[in-house]
Amino acid sequence: MADVRLEGLKKTFGTIEILSNIDLTIDHGEFVIFVGPSGSGKSTLLRMIGGLEPISGGRLLIDNELVNDIDAADRNLGMVFQSYALYPHMTVKENLAFPLRMAKAGKAAIAAKIAKTASLLQIDHLLERKPRQLSGGQRQRVAIGRAIMREPKVFLFDEPLSNLDTDLRVQMRVQIAKLHKQLGNTMIYVTHDQVEAMTLADKIVVLKDGNIEQVGSPHDLYHNPASRFVAGFIGSPKMNFLGGKVEAAHEHGMDVRLDAGPTISVPVQPDQMLVGKPVTVGIRPDDFSSSMPGQQEISIELGVDFVEHLGSVTYIYGNAGNEALVARAPQSGWPKGASKFTLTAAPADCHLFMGNGKAVWRLHAPASWS
Ligand SMILES: Nc1ncnc2c1ncn2[C@@H]1O[C@H](COP(=O)(O)OP(=O)(O)OP(=O)(O)O)[C@@H](O)[C@H]1O
Ligand SMILES: [Mg+2]
Repeated sequence: MADVRLEGLKKTFGTIEILSNIDLTIDHGEFVIFVGPSGSGKSTLLRMIGGLEPISGGRLLIDNELVNDIDAADRNLGMVFQSYALYPHMTVKENLAFPLRMAKAGKAAIAAKIAKTASLLQIDHLLERKPRQLSGGQRQRVAIGRAIMREPKVFLFDEPLSNLDTDLRVQMRVQIAKLHKQLGNTMIYVTHDQVEAMTLADKIVVLKDGNIEQVGSPHDLYHNPASRFVAGFIGSPKMNFLGGKVEAAHEHGMDVRLDAGPTISVPVQPDQMLVGKPVTVGIRPDDFSSSMPGQQEISIELGVDFVEHLGSVTYIYGNAGNEALVARAPQSGWPKGASKFTLTAAPADCHLFMGNGKAVWRLHAPASWS
């Protein structure tokens, strides 16, 4: 295990700055996930930690040791990337043994380690096969096994599951979670997959244009996004954004007149400077119809465009005024086939964003916070 510290880390390619002043502390045994749009710098940052990409500025410390100029091979990291190249001419067993053979480990030690790793990843029955005789998920497990063999202090994963079908992804996600629990290593993981990020991470780092937009637990990022960008990035379907104008600020929050009609009182830190200013109200699709009897509610009239049944949950797509909106349908009591529908939400579940995209701090834990 190790802690990893990034202090003002920078990356430039030629004259273009790709990452600017990245400060981040990753604790011993923590599972940290980098997310962000394509091109935001996730892989570059991971490769810099891994020693595969030179660092242009700042300091990188692993276990309190400055490693900016230490070779990748000497950083004691296990890396698994999207295109996990196994040696095609070697069997699974030989692939697993390779890192330890290079480190001049003894035969008995290697054999013991292979047995342990193979059993952990449930690939015992595949040891004599060549990579081409394996399925994608099996190959993936061998690649992870090869990374484990050296007992690295830190694992780096760059979209390791992106080539797999849905079933295998789910299986592998569970295996990676178990692996982290058993080994207790520090893990740094890049993914585009919301579910992977929300379920695996202790801490999610949201990158945007080479900067850290927000760092927090999945719960924090979901319930207290610091910006409209994070709010829209975390959660599926995406948070709804409704335009409006602040009418008043008072001790219980701010009253916002929505372009779509109603005025709602959002329980956020009041700010007189915002009165009269345009703002955006954010409501997650899942927060509609979650309101409880007796609670103050807001109602929005939705013109229904279409309905999506996903089995356990149904989403209604439509518009409110001129704005597109998606809402989770209540379990019962909504008129199927109706062209109009009144949505209700609890004000405490609403988010408020200023014109510059920054969130206005919420006064209370949201109603849906459990
Ligand atoms: N060798 C390079 N030379 C110049 N620019 C590069 C180089 N490698 C990456 N970049 C640029 O750096 C930026 C960040 O790239 P990076 O691969 O880190 O993005 P990413 O967040 O991993 O994206 P994706 O989700 O698509 O994998 C991009 O704009 C990319 O074009
Ligand atoms: Mg990438």
